[in-house]
Amino acid sequence: MLDQYGRNITYLRLSVTELCNLRCRYCMPEDGVCKKRHEDMLTEEEMLSAIRACASLGIRKLRITGGEPLVKPNLVSLCAQASQVEGIEELCLTTNGVLLPALAKPLHEAGARRLNISLDTLDEEKFRYITRIGKLADVLRGIDAALEAGFEKIKINAVLIGGFNDNEIADLAALTKRLPIDVRFIELMPMYDSGDFGPEAFIPYTKVTEALPELEPLPADGSVARLYRLPGAQGNIGLISPVSAHFCKECNRIRITCDGKIKPCLHSPDELSLKGLSEDEMREQLRSAIFCKPQWHGELSYTARSRAKRNMNQIGG
Ligand code: GTP
Ligand code: 5AD
Ligand code: SF4
Repeated sequence: MLDQYGRNITYLRLSVTELCNLRCRYCMPEDGVCKKRHEDMLTEEEMLSAIRACASLGIRKLRITGGEPLVKPNLVSLCAQASQVEGIEELCLTTNGVLLPALAKPLHEAGARRLNISLDTLDEEKFRYITRIGKLADVLRGIDAALEAGFEKIKINAVLIGGFNDNEIADLAALTKRLPIDVRFIELMPMYDSGDFGPEAFIPYTKVTEALPELEPLPADGSVARLYRLPGAQGNIGLISPVSAHFCKECNRIRITCDGKIKPCLHSPDELSLKGLSEDEMREQLRSAIFCKPQWHGELSYTARSRAKRNMNQIGG
């Protein structure tokens, strides 16, 4: 369905949990999340009703996010049912990869076809630092499991952080030479309470094109990333620039959080509730939310933080 600015909204990002088995510094506070009351969360049935209501309004692509979606019990059964919803053409997930060795194959069998896996560094100690508790080897095993399971597309998401991984741009990009996967560099977004990064941490995507002058530009594919390829590589390099060059004009997405709030825009404080509504009532609420989607998310910079009153783990990216 079209919003008030004529954008066709075809992509739903559904966050199924705020919980995570990592604690990335830019995403969530050290002490994790204060667990919300079970009865305030969408049930699996409500999630499926919301997906069906969205599909009836023209949503064609569904991405399951978190927190970390793979920590949710019954995720495979939710995916199996979601992939069967009439109108949903593409089921994707964004994950930190830790639980993929056990879940990649069942998720693929449940109809998931595309996976985005977060990985900011190839250095074990730096990985532990940025995730506070994680082990790099777990994610590397997860990537192997995803490759074995036969996903159509696997993308690595690396959040670019000045002074942390800007000296690893070439190493991360080289993964596209070794493996049939894409690597995307994402500008760090200043969220509600996302760590104590100084201004030097917020570097623009152009740092990547400077570090990799051999990058060859590719035509746009309708995603939020500018696309390039290293000569002879198997996968693409994508650059996502929500801060230095926002892509609100082409935005085709809405979000639903695990506590049942529709977020028409990632960085807006506006939220409409779905909790406790029938599927028909959900459809009407979604219709209003899509129509009223803001034109853009407003200034975003080191000094102008996101106006969303949530951290990333409570939104799902
Ligand atoms: P594809 O479907 O593979 O193109 O993935 P995606 O980029 O839509 O999803 P993913 O979960 O991998 O998100 C990648 C990064 O882009 C995350 O850091 C998101 O927060 C960011 N991002 C995704 N959608 C938006 C958006 O609408 N606005 C802004 N500002 N950032 C977004
Ligand atoms: N800025 C940019 N990207 C972020 N992500 C989480 N928090 C931030 C942030 N503050 C990324 C994760 C994941 C994706 C869904 O969002 O690394 O890949
Ligand atoms: Fe967990 Fe992903 Fe947030 Fe890291 S970025 S804490 S892996 S939800």
